[in-house]
Amino acid sequence: MKRDFIHITDFTTEEILATLDLAQDVKERFHRRETFHPFAGRSLAMIFAKPSARTRVSFETGFTWMGGHALYLSPNDIGIGKREAVKDIARVFSRYNDLIMARLFAHRHMEELAEHATIPVVNGLTDYNHPCQILADLFTIREHRTHLRELKVVYVGDGNNIVHSWLRLAARLPLEFVCACPEGYEPDPETVALARQNPDSSVSIVHTLEEAVAGADVIYTDVWASMGQKEEAEERARIFRSFQVTEAVMESTGKKTLFMHCLPAERGREVTDGVMEAPYSIVFDEAENRMHVQNAILLKLAGLG
Ligand code: CP
Ligand code: NVA
Repeated sequence: MKRDFIHITDFTTEEILATLDLAQDVKERFHRRETFHPFAGRSLAMIFAKPSARTRVSFETGFTWMGGHALYLSPNDIGIGKREAVKDIARVFSRYNDLIMARLFAHRHMEELAEHATIPVVNGLTDYNHPCQILADLFTIREHRTHLRELKVVYVGDGNNIVHSWLRLAARLPLEFVCACPEGYEPDPETVALARQNPDSSVSIVHTLEEAVAGADVIYTDVWASMGQKEEAEERARIFRSFQVTEAVMESTGKKTLFMHCLPAERGREVTDGVMEAPYSIVFDEAENRMHVQNAILLKLAGLG
């Protein structure tokens, strides 16, 4: 049966860890500029309903390096769910291509795409989640800490798609996860409940920063207004003002803490320029690792890894 990667929880704990190991292997091959063509003669359709820098370039570069052909379909090309039904696109592309990667607004459209496609579908972000990002983040944390034991991640900001993927990761791996957000901007309660089903993880949602960051191994943030919410940006800038990640916040943890951001960052809003540029900031390692981890995910879904 074909497999999809729509949620982190589509993979078992063992599959998540095996994907990280495979990502390490493909990363080393890439750095050696090895010829590695497992996808020779195969194609990846990349459907974008929203803008992207990293997701587009990392999937396209990675799939091309692995010997395949990646097709970029811009927000104006398909009109998925508007010009044409999601389930029709799913079946048409399944006749041409070997894999689909999609970045969509509505999460139900991603699920519909996966349901009707006969080829694997990878989620490159929806309004609900961003699983490739969080798997790449986990890989990056493992690189820097060398292990994933006793990991405390404090996410500061909006309870958005990034948070939902962290929560789903907590459902699979032992994790102390804290989301510090303004009241009214909490993550989806059902996803919080799902994460709390894992007795080895601890999940808290709090409304102040100070206590939350104590002992953090990682402080993570994201934009306050996501794609599709940009008209709320000024209102959110006021509401989120006390949730900015500053040098003082980073230094208040009582521990050597890494700073992470999925990017793109709005410097001077959710994070200061100084934090972005500090030695503890690993944002560009995260961005690079998107490609290696996604290559591993594609290999796993295609039964090649
Ligand atoms: N982090 C991330 O997904 O970046 P893009 O929106 O540029 O793809
Ligand atoms: N929460 C952000 C993530 C971008 C990668 C957004 O959805 O715009």
